[in-house]
Amino acid sequence: MSGVKNGFKKYVSEVQDWPKKGVSFKDITTIMDDGKAYGYATDQIVEYAKEKQVDIIVGPEARGFIIGCPVAYSMGIGFAPVRKEGKLPREVIKYEYDLEYGSNILTMHRDAISPGQRVLITDDLLATGGTIEGAIHLVEKLGGIVVGIAFLIELEYLEGKKRLEGYDTLSLITYAQ
Ligand code: PRP
Ligand code: MG
Repeated sequence: MSGVKNGFKKYVSEVQDWPKKGVSFKDITTIMDDGKAYGYATDQIVEYAKEKQVDIIVGPEARGFIIGCPVAYSMGIGFAPVRKEGKLPREVIKYEYDLEYGSNILTMHRDAISPGQRVLITDDLLATGGTIEGAIHLVEKLGGIVVGIAFLIELEYLEGKKRLEGYDTLSLITYAQ
């Protein structure tokens, strides 16, 4: 494990000019397919979640599931998904936000969170913060308390944290540029 700890960043694959020219894509599948690295990432977030006395984990599809579900399992607590519109079968609440072109609608089941529950939101990556802003909105609408937000990766240069002001965050890996 200590080998992973000292060089965790190298488990992320940086793919240049994907999905379009000028973008340096951060591929987390090379963390996931290494049991030690995936376990290390999970353990770090579990530790943070325990400090925050979390009752339930929330994560946006799809990559938020990859991060949040093993944390929930390890802690013996539940996981509530944030999904795109039309994917959850029962009564939902919705949050609509603008993208560069068009808009996106995120949903959660109305009974996914009980009022007063302490929630940790997880995702693989913080970029502009739009996705997590939506997840926070949904959790709070259901009466949940967002006590922490955990990311594998934060792209500091996109300043997504500005949109998450007032919330405690953990980023295991940061990129300054
Ligand atoms: C990516 C990533 C984060 C989000 C970060 O998800 O997994 O959820 O973008 O960007 P933001 O901070 O600007 O909102 P994506 O929408 O590509 O979908 P996926 O997780 O289903 O791959
Ligand atoms: Mg995502």
